[in-house]
Amino acid sequence: MPDSNKNQNKPVPATPLTPRQRGIIVGASGGMGAALSHKLAREGFSLALVDCNKKALQLLCNEINQSMGEKRVRLYEHDATDYDSVPDTLRRIIADLGGVDTLVYIAGVIHFPALDEYYFSQDHKMVEVNLLGAMAWMSAIAPLFQSAKSGQIVGVSSVAGDRGRVGNPGYNASKAGLTNYLEALRNRLTRHGVNVLTVKPGFVKTDMLMGVEKTPFAIEPERAANLIWDGMKKRKQVIYIAGIWKLIMLVIRHIPSVIFRRLNF
Ligand SMILES: NC(=O)c1ccc[n+]([C@@H]2O[C@H](COP(=O)([O-])OP(=O)(O)OC[C@H]3O[C@@H](n4cnc5c(N)ncnc54)[C@H](OP(=O)(O)O)[C@@H]3O)[C@@H](O)[C@H]2O)c1
Repeated sequence: MPDSNKNQNKPVPATPLTPRQRGIIVGASGGMGAALSHKLAREGFSLALVDCNKKALQLLCNEINQSMGEKRVRLYEHDATDYDSVPDTLRRIIADLGGVDTLVYIAGVIHFPALDEYYFSQDHKMVEVNLLGAMAWMSAIAPLFQSAKSGQIVGVSSVAGDRGRVGNPGYNASKAGLTNYLEALRNRLTRHGVNVLTVKPGFVKTDMLMGVEKTPFAIEPERAANLIWDGMKKRKQVIYIAGIWKLIMLVIRHIPSVIFRRLNF
C-alpha cells in the first residue's frame, strides 16, 4: 500500500497544540452517517452519535471505540422529529464532550411515489425529518457558535433540492428547503467566523437507494465521507459529491421549464 493511503487510515493523535475536535452527527447510524462517523473518529474527533436506531448506534459505537482503542464516541438515542427535546439533548452532549465544534445533520428519509401518486403523509414525514429536524438542531446550536465566533455546521441536502422534478415533489421540496435554509444560515454566520457547509450528494450506495434501478455515478458511502471531510477541512460552502454532479446539475438547473416539464425524471 502506498504511504499516502497508509496515512489516511492512521488515527490522528491529539496533542496540546491540536486538541480533539468535538462533533455531533445527527443520523449517524445510516450508510453515509456511519461512514462519516468512522472517518471523523479517525481524524481525531470525539463524537456524539445521534439517531433513533439505538441498536445500530450501539453496534457502530462499539465498532469505532474498539478500533480507536479508547472511548471516542457516545450514543444518544433521539428521534429528529422530537424537536422539543433538542435543546436538552444538546446540553447533555456539550456537558459530556466538554464543548462542541461541529454539527453534522445527515438524517434523512425518502419515499418514492409513482408519477400519478400524491401521499401527503409521506411528504409530511420527509419535511419533518429532512428539513424541520435540521432546523431544530441548527437553530439550537447557531447562537452558541455565533457567540463563540467559531464552529462549523454541515447539512447534508441533495442534488434533488436543485429543481422540482416530476419524480418526487415532497423529497425535492424538503431538500430545496434545507438548501435554502443552510444558505441563509451561512449568510448570517460567516460574519461571525462560523462555517456552514451544504453537501449535495448525487447517488450514494446506501439503504436509501434500495430498489432504485438506475443509479448513475453512484459512489460508496466511504468515498462520500472522505469528500465531506475534505469539504469540512477546506471550510467550503457548497459541495457536490461526487464532483461530476456539479456539472450535471449546472446543466439541469438551466433546462428551460418548457422542456423540463416534459421530462420523466
Ligand atoms: N443515498 C443517496 O443516494 C443520497 C443522495 C442524496 C442525498 N442523500 C441524503 O444523505 C443523507 C444520508 O442518507 P443515507 O444515504 O446514508 O441513507 P440511510 O442509510 O437511510 O441513512 C439515513 C439515516 O437517517 C436516520 N433517520 C431517519 N429518520 C430519522 C429520525 N426521525 N430521527 C433520527 N434519525 C433518523 C436513519 O436512521 P434509521 O436507520 O433508524 O432509519 C439513518 O441513520 C440523507 O439526508 C439523504 O437524504 C442520500
